[in-house]
Formats: sequence, structure tokens, C-alpha cells
Amino acid sequence: MTVTITPTGGALGAQVSDIDLRAPLDEETVGRIRAAFLAHSLLLIRGQQISKEDQVRFSRCFGEPVPHPTNTRDRDPRVSEITIISNIVEAGQAVGALGNDEVAFHADLVFLHEPGSVSLLYCVETPTEGGNTFWTNGYAAYDALDPATKAKIEGVKAVYVHRNPAYNPPTPPQHPLVCIHPESGRPTLFISPSSAERVVGMDETEGRQLLDDLFAHAIQPRFVWEHSWQPGDLIVWDNRCTMHRRESFDNSQRRLMLRTQLLGPVTKEL
Ligand code: SIN
Repeated sequence: MTVTITPTGGALGAQVSDIDLRAPLDEETVGRIRAAFLAHSLLLIRGQQISKEDQVRFSRCFGEPVPHPTNTRDRDPRVSEITIISNIVEAGQAVGALGNDEVAFHADLVFLHEPGSVSLLYCVETPTEGGNTFWTNGYAAYDALDPATKAKIEGVKAVYVHRNPAYNPPTPPQHPLVCIHPESGRPTLFISPSSAERVVGMDETEGRQLLDDLFAHAIQPRFVWEHSWQPGDLIVWDNRCTMHRRESFDNSQRRLMLRTQLLGPVTKEL
């Protein structure tokens, strides 16, 4: 099987075609997929009819998927690496996380010392309108900063916490605002202001203003790619150099997505 990689032509991402994820991939194909992933930060694979086991096996091309640290609802004990993202309610119980509301731009699991590194989302059911997902390109956002801002944020770190203290490690992590991607070696803006408690070495007002300014810069349309889901779509994205947002949708329509998660350092130790 020779896979075809086609850049989206947008701010980030490439589509992978001529691939069937129901069977294990050979080493050469995995190598091409990993290289395309590092080059484009997000891969879209359409038209897949995969089982949970297939999704977990494909996730292993990028490392070792783990049971999601916070979304534990209705986890299938046979495939504990799969998390359900859905607004569907059955017998009065939500079958998954996140409902139908907007989910604002964020990077995954930043309150951990080793946050989300790679995330995969497989679409089973989608509403006819809404529920699109958007990703930012943190490399491009960093590259486009003016030299004074680059100098100001060099070596500066933010402290991250989850609003539910039960999920927080004993000491909160500090992640650099500019990370050196552990695999590509490229500098990227790494921020997730909704979970940032403070910026180290700045008072609250100054730190919040800096995060707000960087956030406004990073989510400009020129750095953002939007995806309108179809059942059978699988997207794998690099959490170390992107943020993502999910728009709301009509709650009378069903949306069912299956997620796998990998964790790891967000910056290279220099
Ligand atoms: C998320 O992971 O924040 C939600 C993504 C989505 O539901 O499209």
C-alpha cells in the first residue's frame, strides 16, 4: 500500500489517502505517516470504518496511548484507551464528555507535567450543522511574532492548573511559553490561557495581559484550520504545537466521537 499525503493548503494539516486502518500498517507506511505528521502537525484520514481496537492500534504508530486522565465516563474495560466525546444521553446518562457547547481554544492536559502529546479523534456520528473543530498552528504563530515579543517571552514559563483540584499533581507544572518541539526541534508558541494560573516572574495583571495578547495573536484566522466532520473521519493532531476549539451544535442532533490520547514532554530539554 502506498499512501498519498496531500497538504490541506490551509494553516496546517495534510490528508492521508489510499490507506485502510482496519489492518496493521507496514513499517514503511508508519514511517511516512510519522514524517507527514511531524511536517504538518495534523493528519486527516477519511472514509474509515474502524473498530476501537483498530483505533488503538493506529494510535500506537505515535507512541503508547493511555486511558484519558480525566474523561473516564463509561470507559469500555476491554479498550480502556478509548474515551467517548458526545452529547448523547441514554437512560438519563451522558454517554461521553463535552456535551454540545462550544469548547474554547486550548491545548490538552496542560495541568500535567507531561501533557497531551498526540490526540486522535474518530467521528462515528455528526450533526448536519455545527460541531466543527478548529486547530491553530503554533509554529507559524511563533514565527510571526515581532522580535521584541520573541525576546520578552524567551525562557518565560506559565504555571498550569486544572479547575478540579483532584486532577492536579502535587506540584503544578511550569511549561515554557515557547517550547522546542521534542521531535521536530522547532520553536512553537505553547499556551493554553484558560488553564494558566500565572506567568512565572510577573504580577497577575502583567502575566494575564501577556497571555491574552499571545492568545489573540495565535488564534488569528491566518493560523487556523477548520474541519467539518463526516462519519469515518479520523484526525490525529500534535498537541505540542497546536491549540484546538470545538464549536457548539444543536443538542437535538447526535454527535459521537472516539478519542485516544498520548502524553509526553512538550519541550526538548536543552
Ligand atoms: C476537544 O477535544 O476539545 C473536543 C474536540 C471535538 O469535540 O471536536
